[in-house]
Amino acid sequence: MGGAAVRGGASGAGGAAAGGVDERVVLAGIPLRNAVLTASGTFGYGTELAPFLDLRELGGFVAKSLTLEPRHGNPPPRIAEAPAGMLNAISIENVGVKAFLEEKLPALPEGVVVLASAFGTEPGLYAELAARVSSHPRVAGIEINASCPHVKAGGIEFGQDPRLLAELVATVRRATARPLLVKLSPNVTRIADMARVCEAEGADGVTLINAVQAMEVDVERRRPVLSNILGGLSGPAIRPIALRMVWQVAQAVSIPICGVGGIGSAEDAVKFLLCGATAVQVGTQNYLDPTAAVGIARASRTTPAGTAFSASPI
Ligand SMILES: Cc1cc2nc3c(=O)[nH]c(=O)nc-3n(C[C@H](O)[C@H](O)[C@H](O)COP(=O)(O)O)c2cc1C
Repeated sequence: MGGAAVRGGASGAGGAAAGGVDERVVLAGIPLRNAVLTASGTFGYGTELAPFLDLRELGGFVAKSLTLEPRHGNPPPRIAEAPAGMLNAISIENVGVKAFLEEKLPALPEGVVVLASAFGTEPGLYAELAARVSSHPRVAGIEINASCPHVKAGGIEFGQDPRLLAELVATVRRATARPLLVKLSPNVTRIADMARVCEAEGADGVTLINAVQAMEVDVERRRPVLSNILGGLSGPAIRPIALRMVWQVAQAVSIPICGVGGIGSAEDAVKFLLCGATAVQVGTQNYLDPTAAVGIARASRTTPAGTAFSASPI
């Protein structure tokens, strides 16, 4: 199976707990103290939670997707409950790259591994953003968001068309030497083809999956629940889809995979590793329990869950 997991031996990324498991991994060239990250858009800029949690217990943290200029999202209602998950159509509301680099990043405790997430409406804008964040020493890597399911221009267009995706990855690749992951959309017929495109254009890894495009209807109002009509479904409802796609991609490419989608426990995380992921991200569960990701990260260094964290893929 592909996946190119490089477990252990990551200098400077923490160490094995006494008598426990060496939980270190290297993801796409980024040394992580464990395999558990938080997913973009579900953990703010980290600063909101830093007073309550030791973010250094996480393998890493993927910041909210950034655009070059600050961006307002869609008007409310833009989140809604769904069976076993949630719908969102936030639409990349963010502070913009300048405020991220000058205010948000310096406010994070030293030692937190930060990945910046880049978003844009055309490849050149993604590339400019990638170049800007690459100049900051605190940015360990970049995740290209090629998959937002509810933005009218950009995002999902790139993640659904192999030619556009190739152009996007190649353009960003030329703009940065930092480790580069591409976040894939599940809203495609053949996810493995999209991962192959990323590998061919020089991506160091792929993250999957983003939210599944979805909608819900308010029968009394006879209207869609979300103002944007379409949103992204996330949470436990999508975990089997995410596992299937991680497994398919692991058969197709040799670059590492960061698995995301419906992870709520250490056991869920292990499922992704068994399907071929090198690391995982916790998303929607952060809204239910902001300590969830740190709890899963702790479990990765204790047995028996920790032992499972270092198990070979199926
Ligand atoms: C409210 C919300 C905002 C999100 N914002 C982003 C974002 O800015 N960039 C991104 O790449 N993914 C974003 N996502 C997608 C998540 O990072 C993740 O890929 C997806 O929710 C599936 O994981 P989960 O089921 O664990 O939440 C967002 C998800 C939610 C629920």
